Amino acid sequence: MNADDFKRQAAAKALELVTPGMRLGLGTGSTAAHLVDLLGAKVKSGLDVVCVPTSEATRLQAERLGIPLTTLDETPELDLTIDGADELDNELRLIKGGGGALLREKIVAAASDRLVIIADVSKRVRQLGAFPLPVEIVRFGHLATTRLVAAYAEEAGCTGDITVRQRDGQPFVTDGGNYILDCAFGRIEEPEILDEALKLVPGVVESGLFLGLAEMAIVAGPGGVLTIEADWSARDDDE
Ligand code: A5P
Repeated sequence: MNADDFKRQAAAKALELVTPGMRLGLGTGSTAAHLVDLLGAKVKSGLDVVCVPTSEATRLQAERLGIPLTTLDETPELDLTIDGADELDNELRLIKGGGGALLREKIVAAASDRLVIIADVSKRVRQLGAFPLPVEIVRFGHLATTRLVAAYAEEAGCTGDITVRQRDGQPFVTDGGNYILDCAFGRIEEPEILDEALKLVPGVVESGLFLGLAEMAIVAGPGGVLTIEADWSARDDDE
């Protein structure tokens, strides 16, 4: 079995959470693509769901498979979103955005009662940051914004190369018309502090840190399929 097989196993397990009548958010990336594929087969055999895709790529895939789609404007509350991640730690804090869809992914996740992450075991880390953190920024003044991102991140204890993501020799443009900075920090000691700092930079649209959003992760590897639940007891006590 290879990483792709594990991704499909995690997706198949997550599909068990889907029940008739659900309003679903569909993630983006190679792991989420397995989920969409498997969901398409279920829809074909009669499962009744309605879905919001987190990217144009996922929308096209879902359309091809005949999965009924809606938008957050028509359906602003979702029951469940299933998505991949680039990294997840034991507290189910995530880095996302490797595929450039982090903004829509975060909006869809925040509109959902539950966010469940599917991943192969290589995505599980003790500490976030080996995967360069994607940060979505507006195009206007992007070099000035990059300088400020570096300065604010340093204040938050993170340094490293920050590059504007390229595709075919041009800056990569997201579905929302923005650029992505890939921030190679190596280690992110305090994700919450970094996330707060990045939010203060004018021009930053969203960071790829997903904190306190994932309720469960389904991780597949050579040892089998593991379900990890977020421990929100401290947060729930505060509410
Ligand atoms: C898309 O922008 C990302 O957030 C993906 O969810 C993440 O990159 C995981 O992608 P893979 O499943 O392809 O590894």
